[in-house]
Amino acid sequence: MPALDPWVIYDHPIRSKNDKGVLVDKPIWTPHKGQLIIANNYTTNQVLDAGRRFGKSINGAKKLLPEAFVAKSLANQLKIDGLRREFWIVGPEYSDAEKEFRVIYNDLRALGVPFDRPGTYNDPIGGSLHISLWEGTFQIHGKSSKYPEQLVGEGLCGAIMSEAAKQKEIIWDKFIRPTLLDFNGWSFHSSTPEGKNHFYKHWQFGQDPANKDWASWKMPSWRNHFVFTEETVDEHVYRLVELSRQNPGASIYSLAEQHRLIIDSKILGMINDSTPESFLQEIAAEFTEFVGRVFKEFDEETHVTDLVFNPAWQTVGAVDYGFTNPSVWLLVQLGPWGEINVLDEIYEEGLDPTEFAAEIKRRQLNPQGLHFFYPDPADPAASQILERTLGIRAKAGTGGELNNRLNHIRKALKTPRTVIDEHSIDLEETGLYEGETRPQLMFDRRCARTIQDFLNYRYPDKKEETSTKQQELPMKKDDHGPEALGRMFAGIFGSYAKPGGARMHKANFSTRSRKEKEKVQAVTPKSPGFMRPALHERTGTDFPKVNKRTRRL
Ligand SMILES: Nc1ncnc2c1ncn2[C@@H]1O[C@H](COP(=O)(O)OP(=O)(O)OP(=O)(O)O)[C@@H](O)[C@H]1O
Ligand SMILES: [Mg+2]
Repeated sequence: MPALDPWVIYDHPIRSKNDKGVLVDKPIWTPHKGQLIIANNYTTNQVLDAGRRFGKSINGAKKLLPEAFVAKSLANQLKIDGLRREFWIVGPEYSDAEKEFRVIYNDLRALGVPFDRPGTYNDPIGGSLHISLWEGTFQIHGKSSKYPEQLVGEGLCGAIMSEAAKQKEIIWDKFIRPTLLDFNGWSFHSSTPEGKNHFYKHWQFGQDPANKDWASWKMPSWRNHFVFTEETVDEHVYRLVELSRQNPGASIYSLAEQHRLIIDSKILGMINDSTPESFLQEIAAEFTEFVGRVFKEFDEETHVTDLVFNPAWQTVGAVDYGFTNPSVWLLVQLGPWGEINVLDEIYEEGLDPTEFAAEIKRRQLNPQGLHFFYPDPADPAASQILERTLGIRAKAGTGGELNNRLNHIRKALKTPRTVIDEHSIDLEETGLYEGETRPQLMFDRRCARTIQDFLNYRYPDKKEETSTKQQELPMKKDDHGPEALGRMFAGIFGSYAKPGGARMHKANFSTRSRKEKEKVQAVTPKSPGFMRPALHERTGTDFPKVNKRTRRL
């Protein structure tokens, strides 16, 4: 951006009504303390992790205002060169982008800047959010990342990623970042956090002092004194959250009074209503895992496709018992390199164990070669019925901490495996191709209810939703598919957090001596694609899309 002092514009007075409805002249923007730090920073890529109502949208929109005047000073030259200065506001939905859009639109109007007509449209419902100035040489477009086909552009001078944590990683990586390269464009990513996803990764870039291209901040909602008008001491907020954890039944207001804590009353109200984890994420902007979706990594386009039964792979069952709750049987195949394919499900309410076993038989979900299943250990009588009726054996070691099972599943959703061509199956049917990466854990689309669970299984947000004092446990709802699968993970991998890493089931280890192994490796060197887990496979979410039937992005 050519040298220009943005404060000349921010401090420019505009006439507007004050609290009492009287027309007064006031500066176009008086940032609060938190916003001021960001407004005085000129790093190319900025990441603002802030609580709800912090003023993130205003912060982003104000970055665009000086740009309009920079473009004015360059307009003639831009016209001669056939160029324009274009900026995008990208939100998960148009209604998100519209928040920033509305602020910049109103500012320009208040300053009497003439909009190009045609060229300027303000229609969030129809998806037209365009500002055009100076005969088209300055453009702002509001976009929704739900429609990536509309994110194809070239030569952006700046991009605002609004509610960045709620957008997919691919949106920035594949659509926005490349378009900023031509003109050294800037980016501003603002959001409340969503666990430790890609937004957290960008935030970490900004925390690295050696990384000069990125700057980042973490700011709680109460920095915005325009909304949270009473004094708040940061440390007191954290102390109160801790006190509320230790005294689950106690009144937040009495605790605050007893300990003489200085906290804005609106913030107190939010601590009172939310679980500590939800408050820490939404208001204190902490990167916590225990809010929202349990399986944030699960994505229908990546983890769901048409899988095929592979006769060469091991086949097992994974079980969660229920009667009023559904009984769940998952037919799972385990590949030689740790691949886990969930091929089919029985997910039905009202079945007693005998009917459940009969249903598995009727649907032929106990194919030849299936010798074991992984059940909930709490119902050994039901397991005996399955064992007898189906002639299979229940595996032990399927209990333990729920968080252990969840961590195993999360890891398998993120861990890559290279797709290997196998004679016995036609890969094309699956949408997977030899040499591509796939997540370790995948589902066939027939597992409709388990897939729904993976999407809907959540941590509680509000206190009244907690059935337990331990708020880091998910709600007991939409959990039957994950419960069944979790039993299998516990049975195979054991405890997640044991020193030295996860314990593998003994049978998975070769009994060959080390010397023998070295000998074999020496004569048959593996191509990189066949090494597991390979160094070139970084744990991440950049898997190819295999589920062409889902429309969501
Ligand atoms: N500098 C400011 N001066 C006056 N009011 C401000 C300022 N910054 C923010 N506000 C007010 O604070 C409120 C929240 O602002 P904004 O919508 O930008 O926050 P946000 O962090 O994007 O919120 P959300 O989490 O809901 O998206 C709005 O009412 C806005 O007018
Ligand atoms: Mg906002």
